[in-house]
Amino acid sequence: MTLAAHALRLSFSDSGASSIHALDDVSAQFAAGELTVIVGPSGSGKSSLLQALAGIVLPQLGQITFGATVVNALPESQRDAWRLKHCGMVFQDFRLIDELDALGNVLLPAQFQSARLPKGLLARAQQLLEQLMVPRRRGSVARLSRGEQQRVALARALLLDPPLILADEPTASLDAENGQRIAMSLKVLAKEGKVVAIVSHDDKVVALADRVVTLKAGRIQSGSVVSR
Ligand SMILES: Nc1ncnc2c1ncn2[C@@H]1O[C@H](COP(=O)(O)OP(=O)(O)O)[C@@H](O)[C@H]1O
Ligand SMILES: [Mg+2]
Repeated sequence: MTLAAHALRLSFSDSGASSIHALDDVSAQFAAGELTVIVGPSGSGKSSLLQALAGIVLPQLGQITFGATVVNALPESQRDAWRLKHCGMVFQDFRLIDELDALGNVLLPAQFQSARLPKGLLARAQQLLEQLMVPRRRGSVARLSRGEQQRVALARALLLDPPLILADEPTASLDAENGQRIAMSLKVLAKEGKVVAIVSHDDKVVALADRVVTLKAGRIQSGSVVSR
């Protein structure tokens, strides 16, 4: 299945009459089995694109489709349910819950899904944290290093084994070795058949990309979609 953006226009009005086009006529396809890396200068619309793809922000024009689903046409509650089931998101600012420990954060999506934790999910959460080498420590995630917090955010995104993984600069807070490991595991997830779209400036991530999409001032640079 393919996740696709069709002629997206996403505008934010500033205090005056004018508006900023965070995305301007953006069309792109993200295929299962491929690692797509979105690059571009700061403010070029990378995070906006990822959040539009996840149905978190709604474009004023255009469509987001995943298979036959028009994501942005779903009512909010259905969009939230769609995202929970299909989309693992790693935010640029992590968006972890400081009141919870690492495990509590990773299990959060499961708790939205059903009141009782499905069998095996606790073990999966623990296994993900172990694989990502997050120290087994109780207490607030706020006490973890930024690199550890980033890996908790990734574990949370992977918990329900979603077909879509959207990650905003997922190696930005990691040292070279951990960054390489995370980049490789995202590549493996793509090879296993997931749609993986990552915003990144990291050469290690870009080097693994099947496709690179370059944004500039809210537009995809013509000729910038490079398949390898
Ligand atoms: N919630 C918002 N309100 C107003 N402007 C926004 C908002 N989110 C993003 N923008 C603007 O949209 C443009 C693209 O932002 P963003 O997608 O965060 O870029 P990038 O991730 O490439 O740095 C920028 O000009 C930014 O200031
Ligand atoms: Mg950004």
